[in-house]
Amino acid sequence: MTIQWTEEWAVGEPTIDEQHRELVGHINALLEAVGRARSRAEIANMMAFLEVYVLRHFQDEERLMAMVEYPQLEAHRTMHESFARVFARLREEYARDGPTPGLSAELNVRVSGWLVSHIGRLDRAFGEFLAGIGEPGDMHAGGPGTPYRSAAEVTRQSSRARRFGMA
Ligand SMILES: [Fe+2]
Repeated sequence: MTIQWTEEWAVGEPTIDEQHRELVGHINALLEAVGRARSRAEIANMMAFLEVYVLRHFQDEERLMAMVEYPQLEAHRTMHESFARVFARLREEYARDGPTPGLSAELNVRVSGWLVSHIGRLDRAFGEFLAGIGEPGDMHAGGPGTPYRSAAEVTRQSSRARRFGMA
C-alpha cells in the first residue's frame, strides 16, 4: 500500500511539511523493497536510515511544539515514543529473523497506517493550532539561530492579551 501525500496534511511549517513528505517517500520505498524481496542488507539499511530520520523528525516537531507552547505536546510526544518503540522492535526483528510473513503486514499497519493517521489527524491538529497563532513564516522571523521565536512570542502575547481581556 503506497502512501499518497496530500496537501491536506500540510501543517503549514515548511520544515515539518518537507520532513513529512520525505518520511512518506522513505516508507513507500521501504514497503516497495520488502514487496520486491530486495536483499536483506538493503532492507536493513533502509530501516536503520528510517529510524534515525523518524527520531530526528520527531525531535524537530516536538521542539517546535515546545517553542509555541502547544498544549498537546506531552500527549503528542507519547505517541511519537510509542511509534519509535514499535519501529525499533520491527528493525531488530528484521535484523534477527529477516523477512517474515508478518513483516510486511506490520509495516503496512503499524508503520504506514500509523503515519497516515498520525499526520492526517494529530499533526494536522497542530497545524491548525499554528495557524491560529500567526503566519508560519513568522517562525523564522528571528533570523538564524532563533527559529520559531516570534511564533512563541505571538503565543505569549495572545495568552497575555486573553488574560487581560484584550482578545
Ligand atoms: Fe507528530
